[in-house]
Amino acid sequence: MKVLVVGSGGREHALAWKLSKSSLVSEIFVAPGNGGTEIEESIQNIAIDSNDIEGLSNFAKKSGIDLTVVGPEDPLVNGITDKFQDEGLLCFGPSKDAARLEGSKEFMKDFLLRNKIPTASYKTFTDSKKAINYIEEQGCPIVIKADGLAAGKGVTVAFDINQAKEAVNQSLNSKVFGDAGTKIVVEEYLEGEEASFIVLTDGNKVIPFASSQDHKARDNGDLGPNTGGMGAYSPAPVVTDSVHKKILDEVIYPTIEGLNSEGSSYCGFLYAGVMVDQNQNIKVLEFNCRFGDPETQPIMMRLKSDLAELCFKACKKELSNEELQWDARKSLGVVMASGGYPFDYEKGNIIEGITEELEDLKVFHAGTIYEEGSVKSNGGRVLCVTTLGESVFLAQKKAYDAISKIKWKDSFYRNDIGYRAIEREKN
Ligand code: AMP
Ligand code: GLY
Repeated sequence: MKVLVVGSGGREHALAWKLSKSSLVSEIFVAPGNGGTEIEESIQNIAIDSNDIEGLSNFAKKSGIDLTVVGPEDPLVNGITDKFQDEGLLCFGPSKDAARLEGSKEFMKDFLLRNKIPTASYKTFTDSKKAINYIEEQGCPIVIKADGLAAGKGVTVAFDINQAKEAVNQSLNSKVFGDAGTKIVVEEYLEGEEASFIVLTDGNKVIPFASSQDHKARDNGDLGPNTGGMGAYSPAPVVTDSVHKKILDEVIYPTIEGLNSEGSSYCGFLYAGVMVDQNQNIKVLEFNCRFGDPETQPIMMRLKSDLAELCFKACKKELSNEELQWDARKSLGVVMASGGYPFDYEKGNIIEGITEELEDLKVFHAGTIYEEGSVKSNGGRVLCVTTLGESVFLAQKKAYDAISKIKWKDSFYRNDIGYRAIEREKN
């Protein structure tokens, strides 16, 4: 089977790496890929942008691609799956309609409400005065979210009224998110611990992946500005067996049923970001219509089942009640980023000391490029050093040992990835 992976991040490197291990896969292409996928022997990069849906479908037709797996949200929200289907091509990822779960916060919140799925209370606004009145009534902390896709930058957790007003004005008046921010959702602040719960579904059967937790803030202690994610680990101890069951029963199954009853069947990865409170009640923070980045990297490291077979079967609506096989060890990935990220940063710096792949260690690339025999930085999040260990503590130690040998100008990383799980292990 010839497989195409769409995207260029750490997630896509990890997906392509995992897919390439399937005995069903004869060739694997990544469009456009990164320096890491370029130097993988079994993977070939194709210079087509992940948003060039026409270009991608032409390539898939011309090259006889049997299965396409889409990494990022933008092409999904813009209808890549619908286009591929029109062309008779198998594409694993939700339709444009179903991808609105990620593409519009308003759609997502209204959907949750309609389907009685637990989430924070909220109101939607296009008028800044009305939004600020509502915020003054509700008080802080409060959360302001741009409705559309804003590359992970559209959410402000405001702890005082000035910060809240600033967020409203930035989005509705200064239009810093463009069209994505002409509408905002103002939402109740939730306390608790977050977890990422990702499933694979054909719109009928649901196969949950192991749980995970990412660290979205830039700095140690989960402080500083939000990023795409500075590290992740799997499983997440906050997702106990009973929480796991609750997420399936209260969130995942009703979501799939709700989508079906509203006429948009969902085939693809579905990612629920949930808040788990002290009493183990859960509420949905967000949906993503794709795998998480960097959650993919530790999860793929632990997954023993054949991902290509699962995605192919899902596209054919042939999933049965399969149970995934997992490496019993814990996995942890630490993101190394370019100085300045999530704001401005330099590109083109030569990266040295990348560790060779071992059974329990893999450096997944994100913003890298392979040029003139060197791997160079080419983005904000650059590498994700991912390990397996008997405990999160041991996996973390292995990751930081490898990181201590990797260098480029102004690189940085958090040195506390997995700290919540490690605290629990100590107890
Ligand atoms: P989202 O893109 O909706 O997941 O928001 C990004 C991040 O903002 C989440 O991972 C949370 O850390 C935080 N966040 C979002 N919504 C809330 C909320 N209602 N209460 C507390 N924190 C939130
Ligand atoms: N790591 C969070 C996300 O992929 O959205």
